[in-house]
Amino acid sequence: MVDSYEQVPYPGTHQSTSHPARMSALACLYGRRFPSVSRCRVLELGCGDGTNLLSMAATAPNSQLVGIDLAEGAIAEGRATAIAAGLTNVEFMVMDIKAVPPSLGEFDYIVAHGVYAWVAPTVREALMGLIGRALTPDGLAFVSYNTMPACRVRQIVRDILQDHIRTAANPADMVTAAEECLKFYTGVWSEFSPLPNALRDHVLQTLQRPPEVIFHDEMAEFFEPQFVSDVAAHAAVHGLQYLCDTNPSLNHEAFFPSSNQKSLRERAKGDWIRYEQLHDYVSLVQFRRTILCRSEGNIDRRADWTRLRQLHAQGLFDRAEAEESDSRAFVFRTRQSQGGGGQLSTNDPKLAALIACISEHHPGSLPLADASTGPEVGEAILRLFLADMLSLQTEPLPFARRISERPLASGLARAQASRGHKRLSSLHHSAVEIDDPESRHFITLLDGTRSRQDLATEMAQHTGIPIATVSARLDDSLAGLARAALLAS
Ligand SMILES: C[S@@+](CC[C@H](N)C(=O)[O-])C[C@H]1O[C@@H](n2cnc3c(N)ncnc32)[C@H](O)[C@@H]1O
Repeated sequence: MVDSYEQVPYPGTHQSTSHPARMSALACLYGRRFPSVSRCRVLELGCGDGTNLLSMAATAPNSQLVGIDLAEGAIAEGRATAIAAGLTNVEFMVMDIKAVPPSLGEFDYIVAHGVYAWVAPTVREALMGLIGRALTPDGLAFVSYNTMPACRVRQIVRDILQDHIRTAANPADMVTAAEECLKFYTGVWSEFSPLPNALRDHVLQTLQRPPEVIFHDEMAEFFEPQFVSDVAAHAAVHGLQYLCDTNPSLNHEAFFPSSNQKSLRERAKGDWIRYEQLHDYVSLVQFRRTILCRSEGNIDRRADWTRLRQLHAQGLFDRAEAEESDSRAFVFRTRQSQGGGGQLSTNDPKLAALIACISEHHPGSLPLADASTGPEVGEAILRLFLADMLSLQTEPLPFARRISERPLASGLARAQASRGHKRLSSLHHSAVEIDDPESRHFITLLDGTRSRQDLATEMAQHTGIPIATVSARLDDSLAGLARAALLAS
């Protein structure tokens, strides 16, 4: 296991919903207390190269963040990026989850992404035990895992792969053999037969992934997807309880019980975990990002719009023309929804004004405490969140919307760009893909010492493009970086 992550580094990812500001927003909606976000201690278990933790650290200068992982190469990469970015609030340690000493202390937020289902049962046990020991009383833990029973499909493909790669001598040969095998089966599995077609779909998705991800995710020594009810039971043994999932849609039923889920709720007989498990059977959920909290204290699974007053909303909407069949006065489309954009139609001028205001603040967030929300508007905002059309957080994240005289990009993004990374961390805790090397060079120049004139001169020298052309494009480039939350104040 250790060797495999040393031999083939795992490409780090940003887990946007693991940010304390977003985890705590969910806790707030469920009526739970939560630790301060701007001044907290965060621990990431199996942090890999630190992509997620570094990105959080850049948004929380007064917090203290610690990442541990067994892979020395990944930890060295995380440390090097932190030093290059001047981040002194994050620390990386080569450490086994099974051997974390009590001296590491307590943490307000603990994150373990892509670890729980990918390790031996002994490590899984240690991981949950550690959360149980180290989480502060109001703390929140984010634990993601592949879920049963839907992941049985993936296990079938894995069984077949294991057989095909038996004779491969090294990771490169394993990936070549795996890709060859996967392509072969996409050709022979029929689209018209349900099980072969489900396997074929999974294989086609897998082939889109980078080779390093195929190597680890399809060929790792351990792949033990979990039933959500087993995770909740495991958590309970360690003094923790299942709070919710960070996927907004998985929270819908808690706040707005629907008629089409009524029979599931009845079968669950008031047991929320049972309901979630039945839901996974019906919806064949494949991945969960579970938030755990301490067993003490209630979880209030009811929609209470007054809780929104503690939150900030963020989203990007365009005013749209109503379709002929839609008589409502205000129509908005969002670009935020991962499903490719949702639509909201309303006759309520207060809601329309609030949506417009949230959009004007983008990529910043609007404090809802100041917004004149009543029950109807509050419920609509909550429903937009559950439909993934806007996001909620407990505190604003520190990026600049205005471009200063001497523009300053996030120190982390500058460090990543100068280290040749194509995927940069925004100050909104998300990844921004910048493929063009010249744009990355431009970002490295934004250290707050150069005026627009200096920037134009240096970029003209660097690219050979006439200075007039560079100057003409400069404002647009800077505005694009501001929209991507890459500029700091
Ligand atoms: C699939 S990767 C996920 C990395 C990272 N969390 C992410 O999402 O990009 C699993 C990580 O867990 C680490 N890991 C596995 N077993 C571990 C253990 N016992 N103690 C610490 N880290 C471990 C591996 O080295 C690897 O970096």
